[in-house]
Amino acid sequence: MITTTLSTKNLLTSKSNAYAFFVEHDFDPAHIKDTVTQLYPAYAHALKERGFTGKAGSSLVLTGTQANKAVYIILLGLGDLKKGYQNVENYRRAVGQLVRIAEFHKFHSLAFELPDPAVLGLSYERLAQETSTIMHKARYHFDEFITSEDRKFTWEITATVHVPKKFAEVAQKGLDFGLVIADAINTARYWCDLPPSALTPPIFAKKAEELAKEYGLKAKIFDKKEIIKLGMGGIEGVCRGSMHEPRLAILEYKASKAKAPTLCIVGKGVTFDSGGLSLKPSASMETMKDDMAGAAVVLATMKVISQIKPAINVIALAPMVENMPSGTAQKPGDILTAFNGKTMEVADTDAEGRLILADALSYAVDAYKPDAIIDLATLTGACAAALGVFYAGLFSQHDELVERVIKASEHSGDKVWRLPMDNDYKPAIKSDVADMRNIGSKKYMGGAITAAFFLQNFVGNVPWVHLDIAGVAFGVPDLSYLRPGATGFGIRLLADLIMHWDRDLKKK
Ligand code: BES
Ligand code: MN
Ligand code: ZN
Repeated sequence: MITTTLSTKNLLTSKSNAYAFFVEHDFDPAHIKDTVTQLYPAYAHALKERGFTGKAGSSLVLTGTQANKAVYIILLGLGDLKKGYQNVENYRRAVGQLVRIAEFHKFHSLAFELPDPAVLGLSYERLAQETSTIMHKARYHFDEFITSEDRKFTWEITATVHVPKKFAEVAQKGLDFGLVIADAINTARYWCDLPPSALTPPIFAKKAEELAKEYGLKAKIFDKKEIIKLGMGGIEGVCRGSMHEPRLAILEYKASKAKAPTLCIVGKGVTFDSGGLSLKPSASMETMKDDMAGAAVVLATMKVISQIKPAINVIALAPMVENMPSGTAQKPGDILTAFNGKTMEVADTDAEGRLILADALSYAVDAYKPDAIIDLATLTGACAAALGVFYAGLFSQHDELVERVIKASEHSGDKVWRLPMDNDYKPAIKSDVADMRNIGSKKYMGGAITAAFFLQNFVGNVPWVHLDIAGVAFGVPDLSYLRPGATGFGIRLLADLIMHWDRDLKKK
C-alpha cells in the first residue's frame, strides 16, 4: 500500500526517508540547490560526476543526512517539456520510477513538491490527480499466491506531497479523485490477474454484484436459464463446452436528472479462452485468463461512476463465459441466433468474443435505448499485431463520438489509434448459410476491422465506438508504473469521457 498525504509546509519538515525532485532536461541546478545542499553538500559535484541532466526516464539517487539520520535524495528527469501530452506522460513515468526506487530501497516514507503544473499544461487539481493515480497504480502487485515473504510488497509507504497553501484544497481534491481512479484500475487488474479457475463466470458475476451492493448501484445478473430464455444464442453457444455456467452482469447508474442521456459500456468477459474446438496452440493460451479484461474494466469503471455521480446514466454490461472444448461444445459449422434475431455461422470457435458481444450489444440497444455505446474487448490478435502494446485500436463510423473518445484518451493516457471502418471491408463476413460468419474471408485480411464490422450488426443506429484492447490489456513492458500482468486499460479513458460528457451527441 501507499498512502498519499498533503502538506503545505516546507519540504524538509516532513522528516521522510527520502526527498524527491522532478527536474527538466538541462535544468538549472540552482533551482533546488538550497534545499538539496542541506542534505547533501556536494550536490553540484554529484550532478557533474554522475552526468545527470534530467533526461526523460533518468534518475539519480544520492544518500545524504538530515539531523543525523540517513536520507535518500532522488532526482527524476522529466526530459524536454515541449511536446504536449508527452510531457504529462513523462511525469507519470517519473512518478512510477519514484515508486520503483522506493520499493528497491524499501523506504517507508518519501516527500516531494509537485512540479509546476503550467509547465506540464495541467491544472493543479489534475496534476495532483495524475500523481495519486500513478503512485497507487505503480504500487499494485499481484502477490497473493507468492509465499516467500521477501518477494511480497507488504510494507506501507507514506508519500507526503508538498503544495503551496493556496492550492491545498484543489490538490487534496485531485489526490482523492486520483485514488478513486487507481482503486478501480487495480480492482480490474486484480480480477484479470486471478487464475482462470479462481474467476469463473459465476464467481466473476458475484464480484460484480458485490461491487454494486457496496457502491449503491443497481445490479442485474442473468444466469444460464435467463440467458437462454432471452434468446441470447451467442452466449449460449460459447458456453456449451464449459462446466461453468455463463452470466450476463449489468450494473446501472442513474443520474439524478430524469432526462439524462444514457451511455452503455460493454466489455468482453471470457474468463478463459482455450479457443474451444478450434483449439489454440498452448503458447497462445497462456495469457487467455485475461480475456475478460474488457468486462473487468467496464465493471470497475462503475466504482468511479458511483463516486463522481455524473449527469449521465451509465450502464455497464458484461457477458461472461468460459470458452472450452468438450463433447458438448459448439462446433465449427454451428449457427447461432443472437438476441436481435440475426444468425451467426460459427466458422471458428476461437472467434468467440464477437458472439457473446452480439447479445450484450443488442440487449443494450433494446433495453436501455442508449445515446452512445462504447465496447472494450480483447477481441483480435490482429489488432495487437497491428498496433502493438501501447495503443488500443479504435473502430467507429461516428466521427463526433470518436473525437470525444480521442480527447479523453489524450487527457487520460490510455492511448488509442483509429483504424479504418471502411465499408469496403464489410463483405468479408458474408456467410452462405447465415446472416454473417464469425471470421472474415482470408481475401480481405484486416482481422481487427472485419471483427468490428461483425459487431456493427448489433448496435443498430446508436453512435458506437469499439475499442480492441487485445494488445494493451496485459503484458505491457517498460512502463515504470505498470507490473507484469494486467493494466486496467480503459478506466482512465472512460472516467475522463464520462466526466466531460456535457453536451448531447448529434444524431447520425
Ligand atoms: N481472445 C482472442 C484474441 C486475443 C489474442 C487477445 C491475443 C489477446 C491476445 C480472441 O478470442 C481470438 O481468439 N481471436 C482470434 C480470431 C480469429 C479466430 C478470427 C485471433 O485473433 O486469432
Ligand atoms: Mn478466441
Ligand atoms: Zn477471446
